[in-house]
Amino acid sequence: MITRIIREDARFVVDRLGRMLEPLAGSRVLVTGAAGFLGAFFLDVLDAFNERHPSSPARVTGLDNFLVGPPERISHLLGRPWLSLRTADVSRPDEVDGGTDYIIHAASIGSPSIYRANPLQVIAANVQGTWNMLEAARKGAKGMLSFSSSEVYGDPAVVPTPEDYNGNVSFTGPRACYDESKRLGETLCATYFRLHRVPVKVIRPFNVYGPGQRLDDGRIIPDLLRAALSGGPLVLFSDGAATRSFCYVSDFVEACMMLLMMPEADGEAFNVGNAEELSIASAARTMAEVAGDPPCRCCSNPPPRRPIWWTTRSGAAPIWPSCTASPASAPG
Ligand SMILES: NC(=O)c1ccc[n+]([C@@H]2O[C@H](COP(=O)([O-])OP(=O)(O)OC[C@H]3O[C@@H](n4cnc5c(N)ncnc54)[C@H](O)[C@@H]3O)[C@@H](O)[C@H]2O)c1
Repeated sequence: MITRIIREDARFVVDRLGRMLEPLAGSRVLVTGAAGFLGAFFLDVLDAFNERHPSSPARVTGLDNFLVGPPERISHLLGRPWLSLRTADVSRPDEVDGGTDYIIHAASIGSPSIYRANPLQVIAANVQGTWNMLEAARKGAKGMLSFSSSEVYGDPAVVPTPEDYNGNVSFTGPRACYDESKRLGETLCATYFRLHRVPVKVIRPFNVYGPGQRLDDGRIIPDLLRAALSGGPLVLFSDGAATRSFCYVSDFVEACMMLLMMPEADGEAFNVGNAEELSIASAARTMAEVAGDPPCRCCSNPPPRRPIWWTTRSGAAPIWPSCTASPASAPG
């Protein structure tokens, strides 16, 4: 399903990047994870690009196994003559022929609750899927984006974390299926660049949010939003002091499209997020205000030393946290 805001955002990205996107005209593009939050947004940007280039549109193949991404998210694109949508698994070899100019490899399972339930599938997409896409890119692609994660840093022993920090990741814990397979995906990208000069750029998205994201996605912004839309309360399972870089989806996609077109970025990894950090508490507070004052409270185990409870415009009094709701996800 597309909304007016997504359509406007997609056109805005194309207009802002302008001539930088010209090489896409008449090119062949592959988007994996095409029905996911980010993959679908890339398709909408390519749709906006083709609106502006009706005589030489980019010819796009969208590929998804629909394990997570709902087909409805991209149903408005069915019937576009420049788009071929395929149900396929990126971890299977030979799903992609050569002759692709640009590859946007966004197939994976981004939601912690879903990848914990599908640990082998997420490893397959992040490792074998990335390997297969690199092999496809090796056959003459001009640019490839491979999506990794800030989770490659794990629980960093150094905060703020310098970009050259090598990470502190459990290789056997419940999140290892995601974190470690993203790390190996990055190793594959670096290796293919070194050995074969494959023009791949690794992108580590930092808390991207926005229209098109599923409310049951399991990440912090959709969790809070879902609570706010149902009248609250907005429950945080921490003291809310941790900060995050929350990045609006069209800003993120604009940066990615720019990197896709930049040969000088080949072989590099990019942390793409908002330069401004926000505490989880203040994100929740803003959301409660915008949604019209649902209560907002923090819980933790063990409980925090002080009551944490933000009143919104109605000015309710602080309360001690008493948490009965079960967490849909940990903030982060
Ligand atoms: N959104 C974020 O803030 C964020 C943060 C960190 C990393 N990432 C990474 O960015 C990429 C895209 O994220 P997203 O938010 O769009 O995730 P998402 O879970 O919404 O979408 C991923 C899509 O990939 C598909 N998929 C999964 N396994 C597949 C397979 N084997 N073959 C084909 N399709 C498969 C799913 O069905 C889904 O449609 C992922 O690699 C994710 O790990 C995203």
